[in-house]
Amino acid sequence: MPLNKQTVLITAGPTWEAIDPVRGLTNRSSGKMGYAIATQAVAMGAEVILVSGPTCLVCPSRVRRIGIESAQQMYDAVHQNLAGVDIFIGVAAVADYSPVSVVKEKIKKSANRMTLELVKTPDILSSVGQLQSNRPYTVGFAAETDNVLAYARGKLEAKTLDMIAANDVSQAGLGFGSDQNQLYVLTDDDTQDLGVGSKALLAQLLLEMIAMNVRAH
Ligand code: PMT
Repeated sequence: MPLNKQTVLITAGPTWEAIDPVRGLTNRSSGKMGYAIATQAVAMGAEVILVSGPTCLVCPSRVRRIGIESAQQMYDAVHQNLAGVDIFIGVAAVADYSPVSVVKEKIKKSANRMTLELVKTPDILSSVGQLQSNRPYTVGFAAETDNVLAYARGKLEAKTLDMIAANDVSQAGLGFGSDQNQLYVLTDDDTQDLGVGSKALLAQLLLEMIAMNVRAH
């Protein structure tokens, strides 16, 4: 049980940034990668908290799931549940921008063009990576369409992470929505290609690397 006595907090799925009561901004994340990691972490002996955006997935057994919609709600749920967390894994595809305000009534169709003003959301992963005390071992994900390794390494450094798992989301049949993925895992001094495989298998390989690094931490 390589994750025995470890508490792991995982974010998964998309966020939903409301525009009005019936419309919003979201993305193609299904939650499958994050849920696969949650399932595998339990199998490896961890206590698991899953902060999840809206998905159609069933909560894995023995996982405590906290459902949220927006990036701000995900940020709040993560920080309200960080006490005692040993490992944080940010798998969610969090909106980078959100409407400045939510319109209370359904917006009526009128002009040919309309402008939506957006504001940056809080960066959840960075806020955990930059904690000065009680900082968990912090793992991010990077979804890239080009220069995958270079951009992922940039995020590892900019967000002060211990590890980042990078996927090339331009490849058909992998990444968003699929049961398959391909991951590179980067640390300060190492880059490993975990190859193509099911999200269940990649979750297992990634968690084995995390468990090894946490022990050496
Ligand atoms: O859910 P699936 O359909 O299974 O798809 C899996 C996946 C492709 C979504 C997953 O493997 C993945 O790559 N997740 C990260 C997606 C992403 O938003 O990457 P990013 O490069 O934009 O963000 C980098 C990191 O910062 C991520 O760990 C993200 O969770 C985090 N972030 C980003 C913005 C923000 N405001 N707060 C954050 O914490």
